[in-house]
Amino acid sequence: MIYQKDSFICLETKELSYIFEILPSGHLEHVYFGTKTKSKLTDLKVKITAGAGSQVLYSDDHPIPLDLLPLEYSFIGKGDYRLMPFEAKMPNGSFVCDFKYKSHTIIDDSYDYNLPHALNADKTIIVTLYDEVNNVEVDLIYSTFFETNTITRKLIIRNMNENTLVIRKVMSMMIDVPEMDYDLITFDGGWIKETHKHIRPLSYGTYSIESTTGASSNRHNPGFILAKKDTNEDYGIAIGINLVYSGNHYSAVHVSNHGMMRVMTGINPHCFEWPLEKNAFFETPEAVLTYSAQGLNKLSHNMHDFINGHIVPKNNQKELRPIVLNNWEAFMFDFNQRKIINLARKAKKLGVEMFVLDDGWFSNRNDDTKGLGDYDVNRKKLPSGLDKLAKKINRMKMGFGLWFEPEMVNQDSKLFTMHPEFAIKVPYLEPSKGRNQLVLDLCNDKVVRYIKENLFNTIDCANISYIKWDMNRHISDMYSNKLSNQGMFFHKYILGLYDILKDLKTRYPHILLETCSSGGNRFDLGMLTFGPQVWASDNTDPMTRLKIQEGLSYLYPLSTISCHVSEAPHAQTLRKTPLETRFNVASFGVLGYELDVRVLKPYERKAVKEQIAFYKKYRDIFQYGKFYRFNRKGNDFQFQVSKDDTHIIGRYQTIVDASPNFEKLYLKNVNEANTYSVYSKPNVLNIDRFGHLIKHAVKVPFKHDGLVMRIIGKYKTLDNAQTKLLVDGAALKNGVPLKQQFMGTYYNTETRLLGDYGSELYVAEKIEVS
Ligand code: DGJ
Repeated sequence: MIYQKDSFICLETKELSYIFEILPSGHLEHVYFGTKTKSKLTDLKVKITAGAGSQVLYSDDHPIPLDLLPLEYSFIGKGDYRLMPFEAKMPNGSFVCDFKYKSHTIIDDSYDYNLPHALNADKTIIVTLYDEVNNVEVDLIYSTFFETNTITRKLIIRNMNENTLVIRKVMSMMIDVPEMDYDLITFDGGWIKETHKHIRPLSYGTYSIESTTGASSNRHNPGFILAKKDTNEDYGIAIGINLVYSGNHYSAVHVSNHGMMRVMTGINPHCFEWPLEKNAFFETPEAVLTYSAQGLNKLSHNMHDFINGHIVPKNNQKELRPIVLNNWEAFMFDFNQRKIINLARKAKKLGVEMFVLDDGWFSNRNDDTKGLGDYDVNRKKLPSGLDKLAKKINRMKMGFGLWFEPEMVNQDSKLFTMHPEFAIKVPYLEPSKGRNQLVLDLCNDKVVRYIKENLFNTIDCANISYIKWDMNRHISDMYSNKLSNQGMFFHKYILGLYDILKDLKTRYPHILLETCSSGGNRFDLGMLTFGPQVWASDNTDPMTRLKIQEGLSYLYPLSTISCHVSEAPHAQTLRKTPLETRFNVASFGVLGYELDVRVLKPYERKAVKEQIAFYKKYRDIFQYGKFYRFNRKGNDFQFQVSKDDTHIIGRYQTIVDASPNFEKLYLKNVNEANTYSVYSKPNVLNIDRFGHLIKHAVKVPFKHDGLVMRIIGKYKTLDNAQTKLLVDGAALKNGVPLKQQFMGTYYNTETRLLGDYGSELYVAEKIEVS
C-alpha cells in the first residue's frame, strides 16, 4: 500500500513501513524504515532543534541545513557535504543541481521499465523532482511488494534542455539512517571461494563494496546487510539491500560527522560517463530493500520470498527443478559420443532427470584455447550431431541440456578469422586475454545479432530443455568503436547481454536457464530475472562450499543455488570427503551430479541412488522450504529447511574432536505442542574409511590394504548409528540428546561415526498422536 497523509508519503508492506516527507523547500526527508507503525508521523522525524556549527543553509526562504537532514536522495552544491549519490555535468555546465519536488503519481503494479526488474508490485509511486534552472527532471520510483516485505527503488533522469547533460554517477537509491551502531555484512571472495561472509563494524567515513570486472563479480556480491551490533540469526535489527544488475556495481555506507549512516547502491561510477541529449532519459537498475527486527533469518526469508515470487521468471516460480548430471568434472574436454551415452545411461539408472553436455561439443574445442565463438558441432566427438544425441538421451527419458559461452571468442576460431573486429580491443593496443579468450563486443548490434542467430539456430536443431550460460573471464580493454563515449561501455555491454537473454527467454520459455560465470562470478538478481538458478561455484568440495552456500543463503533462496556432488579428492582443494557429506551439502540447493557415474563402486552406486530418491521425496522442501541458519560457533555448521511442518536438518562437522562432548539436536520453527517423528538419513560407512582399524571392527584374516579387502571394500559398508525419536516441538526447541560420537574406545553400531568432514541429515515430520 502507498498513500499520502498531509505532507508525508507512506509505503506499507505486511510488516513494514517506509515513510518520507515532502518538505516545504521541495526536498524529500527520509522519516522511517522499520516495523509497521501507526505513530503520529511528525513524532517519527529527526528533531533538529539546535542545528550545528559550520552549516550552509539552503535558502533565505528555507534556511534548512541539508547536511544534517536524513534525505531520500541528495544532490551536489547546496550544503550537503556527505557522500553523494549523483554527479553530473548539468546542461548549464555546472555540477550544482537544485532538484525539488514537482508531483507524484501512484499506480498499481510495477512500472514498465526497460531494464530487468521485479514483477507484480502491489503499488508503485513515481515522485518527480525538477531542476528549473537546467530544465531536467528526476523520477524517484518506489514499489512495494506487500507479502514479501520488500521495497524497490530506482531513478529515471530526463533532460529537456537543448544542451547535453553528462552523468558521471547515478545511484539507484539512497537512504539516510540517523544512527551508526551497525555492522556492515558483505559477501566477498574470488574463484572457488565466492560469497564468504565478512563483518565490519562501522565507524566514521566511507565503506564501499564494488565490482569493476564488468560483471557483478565473485569479488563482492552486490547484496549486503547492515545489522545492529547485537543482531544475530534470530534476534535484532537488520537492513538488507541488493541490486537487480549484472554489471559493475557500487554500494557505499558513509557515516557522517554527526553519526548518520548514508547508504546507497547503483551502477559503479568507475569509467562511467553517460551523455543525455535533449529529450533523452537514463534509467538506473532497481535496488531492493528489506528490513527485519527478528534477526538475519527473517531478513533472508523476506529476500527469498521476494526472489521466488517477483524476480525469477514467472514460469519457473515454484517449479521443481530437475536433478542433472553434468559431464564437466567427469570428462572436461575429453569425451566422445560413446562416453557421453554411456555416462547418460548410468546416470538414468541412478534417477538423474537431465543430462547436461558441458564445454567442448563444438568446433575444434579440445582445450580452452580454441573454438569459442563457433557453433558447429564437433563431428569427431559427436558424429551424429546434437539432434540425434538429444533424441537418444530423450529416449532414455531424460531431458537434454547444453552449455554455451556466447559472450566470448578464441583467436583460434572461425568467428575471429572472419570478424576480428567483433572482439573488444582498444585501437593499436594488444588486447589482454583471460582463460585464452577475448570478449565479444556486446555494445555492437551486429555482434548481438550474430550471437542470437547462432544460439537460436543451435537450439532449434535439437530438443534442448536446459541451457547452461557460462562467461569465463573479466572484461579488460573495454572499448567499442560503436560508442561515441567510452564511458558508456560497461553499461552498454550489459544492455546487449540483457537484450540477448530477453529474446532467448521469450522464444524458449520452456527452457530452464542456468547461468554461470566461472561459478558464482555473476550471482545476481539481474541474471535471476532470466534464469532461475545459478551455478554457485566451481568449488564442489563440500567443506569449503558450506561457506559459499551459507553466504549466498543470506540474500538468495535455495531454489537459485545450483549445487553438484563431485568426485573426491576434490579438484579444488585435494581434500577427500565422504560421499554422504557431498550430498548432504549439495542437497541444500538445486541438486545435481558431476561424478563419473560409470566408474562408481557398487556401494557408491547404491548410495547415490538412495540420495537421489531421498532428494526427490523432499525436493519441494529443499528447493522452496524456509531456510534457517544457526548461530555458528567455529567451523561447524547446521542448516534447516522447513515446509508444512516437515523439517530437514543438516549438521556438518569439519574436524572431529578426540573424545567429543555430548551433543543435542536443535530445531527451529517447530510447534511446541506438535509431536514429531525424527529420523536420521542412513549414512553409508565404507570399510576403507577404517584403514588398518577395520580389524577391530570386524574380525577378518586379510590385510586391510590387500587385494581381498579392496574387493570387499567395493561392496561392503558398515552399519552406522541411526537416530529415531518421537518427541514434541518443545523438546526439539530445547534440544534432544543425540547418541555419542566415536570416543576412541571401540566400534559399535549404536555410536555415530562421523570423523573429519562427517555430516548427518535429520528429518522431523509432524505426526498425529491419539
Ligand atoms: C566454468 C564453469 O563454471 C564450469 O562448470 C564449466 O562449465 C567450465 N566453465 C567449462 O569451460
